[in-house]
Amino acid sequence: MTILLASAELEHFAKVGGLADISAALPIGWEKLGHDPIIVLPKYACISESDSITLIDMHIELSICSHTVHVYKSHIQHTMIPVYLLDCDELYKRPGIYGNPDGYVDNDLRFYVLCKAAFEIMIKLHISPDVISAHDYHTALLLPLLKLDYAHHPLFARTKGILTIHNAQYQGWYDKYRMQDISNWDFLNDSHESWFLFNNSFNALYAGINFSDAIVAVSPGYAKEVLTEQFGEGLEHVFQQYQYKLHGILNGVNYESWNPEKDEYLNKHFSADHLEGKYEGKQILIERSFSKNRHNDSLPLFGIVSRFTSQKGLDILDGCIEQFLHEETVSLIVLGSGDEIYQEYFTQLQKRFPTACSYTQGYDESLAHAILAYTDFFLMPSAFEPCGLTQIYAMNYGTIPIVRKVGGLKDTVLDFDSNPMNGNGLVFTDFSSEELAKCIRRAISCHADKQMMNILIQNAMQSHFPISATAEQFVKLFDSLRDTH
Ligand code: ADP
Ligand code: GLC
Repeated sequence: MTILLASAELEHFAKVGGLADISAALPIGWEKLGHDPIIVLPKYACISESDSITLIDMHIELSICSHTVHVYKSHIQHTMIPVYLLDCDELYKRPGIYGNPDGYVDNDLRFYVLCKAAFEIMIKLHISPDVISAHDYHTALLLPLLKLDYAHHPLFARTKGILTIHNAQYQGWYDKYRMQDISNWDFLNDSHESWFLFNNSFNALYAGINFSDAIVAVSPGYAKEVLTEQFGEGLEHVFQQYQYKLHGILNGVNYESWNPEKDEYLNKHFSADHLEGKYEGKQILIERSFSKNRHNDSLPLFGIVSRFTSQKGLDILDGCIEQFLHEETVSLIVLGSGDEIYQEYFTQLQKRFPTACSYTQGYDESLAHAILAYTDFFLMPSAFEPCGLTQIYAMNYGTIPIVRKVGGLKDTVLDFDSNPMNGNGLVFTDFSSEELAKCIRRAISCHADKQMMNILIQNAMQSHFPISATAEQFVKLFDSLRDTH
C-alpha cells in the first residue's frame, strides 16, 4: 500500500513536539509491514544538508498560488523512506516552524501550499497513493483537496483520506475571504459553506474532519474525551456527529532510537538488569545541572521536558513544588520553552532554589534524552494530553511518570499503589496543586524504600508501546476503508 503522509513536523528535520516523533515513527512502522510510505514536508530554514540529512535536487518545479516551489528529496534517518521537501524561500525560509507566539499571519497560505504540493508531487512522479494521511490542522486541507480538487484525477480516484488529530486545541482559524482567494474553493457562494466554515470562520481542522474518510485520535482515551465539552475544544458536537468514523489509536514509540541500551544521545547506557549506567548518568546530569551550587545527591530527582503551554499543567505545579524544594525533599531539573509566563516562572524558581532546581530554557535534544533517562521521576500533570510520548519514553528508561489521569496518560500509566503487581507510575485525578502534592509525597516515600522503588522501575521498563502495534492498527483501518467505495 502506498501511503502519502504530509506533516508540519518531522523528527531530525523540524521538531517542536510529539507530532514530529510520530510523523517519522509511523512511516517506519508501515515500511516494516511492507508498505510504501512517502512524506512531504516544507524545507524550513532549519533544514539543511548535514551528516544525517542529504538533499537531492529533484529538478521538479511547481507553481502553486503564484509561488514557485522547488522539490528536494531526502530520507528518514537510517531508512530509505522518501521525504520530499518543499523549497520556497518566501514561505518557509523563516525562523522556526509556526512563528511565535501567535503564528505567522500567512500560515493559511504556507500550509495550504504544503497540502497542494503533496498532490502535485504525486502527479509529477506518477504515484497513486492508496491512502493520504493528514496530521492536525496544518495538513487537514489535504482532505477537501482530495475530495473536491483531485477527486476525478485518475491517480487519486480510489485514494482514501484519514485525518489524525494530535491536538484539537489548534484548529487553523483562517480568514474566510483570504482562504477563498488562496484556494480553488468557492465556499462563500456554493453549497460547501458549511463544510469549511465553523461559527462563520474558516476552520481548517473542521474542514478536514468533514471531508475525511476516517478520523483518528491519538489515544482511545482522547477519542472519547473529544466528544465532551471539556475536551472537544468547541468541536464536540462535530465529533459526536462523526462518531461512526472516529477511532482511537494509541501512539507508539520507535524503540530503535528510544532505547536505554543504545540511545545515541546518552553517555551512559543501561538495561533493566543492569541499572548502574542510569545512576552514573544521574550523577553526571546532577553535576552538569547544579555545577556551581551544592546539591544533595541522595534526594529523589524529578524531571520535566515540555512545551510550555497551559495544556501541560504547569499551573498546578506553581504553588505545589515550592514546598518540596524549600524542605529539600526533592530536586528538579527542567527543560522547556514556550509561553513567557512559564519561562519566567521556572527562571524565578531556579533563582529561589539554586541548589534544588535547575532550569534550561530552549530546545535541546540531548538534554531531553538525559532528563528522561537519568531522573527518578518525570512530572507530567497535564490539564489535557491527547497521548503524550515523554511519559512513555521515561518509563522505558525506568524513570517513573507522575501523571494526571487524562487522555493518553490514562491509557499508558497505571497507578502503582492501586496496582502493586503491574503499576508503572503514579497517577492523580483532580487538576489541583493539592492532589499533585499528594502524588509527589507518594513518590518521595517510594524512593525511600529501595525494594519498592526497584519493583516500580522494573514494571515501568516492562511497559511497551511499540510503533509496530500503532502502524498495524492504522493499516487495519486503511484496509477496512479500501473495501468501501
Ligand atoms: P507534545 O507533543 O504535546 O509536546 P509529547 O509528549 O507527545 O508532547 O512529545 C513531546 C516531544 O518533544 C518529545 O519527543 C520530547 O522529548 C520533545 N521535547 C519537548 N520539549 C523539548 C525540549 N525543550 N527540548 C527537546 N525536546 C523536547
Ligand atoms: C500532540 C499532543 C501529544 C501527543 C503528540 C503526538 O502534540 O499534545 O499529547 O503525544 O501530539 O501525537
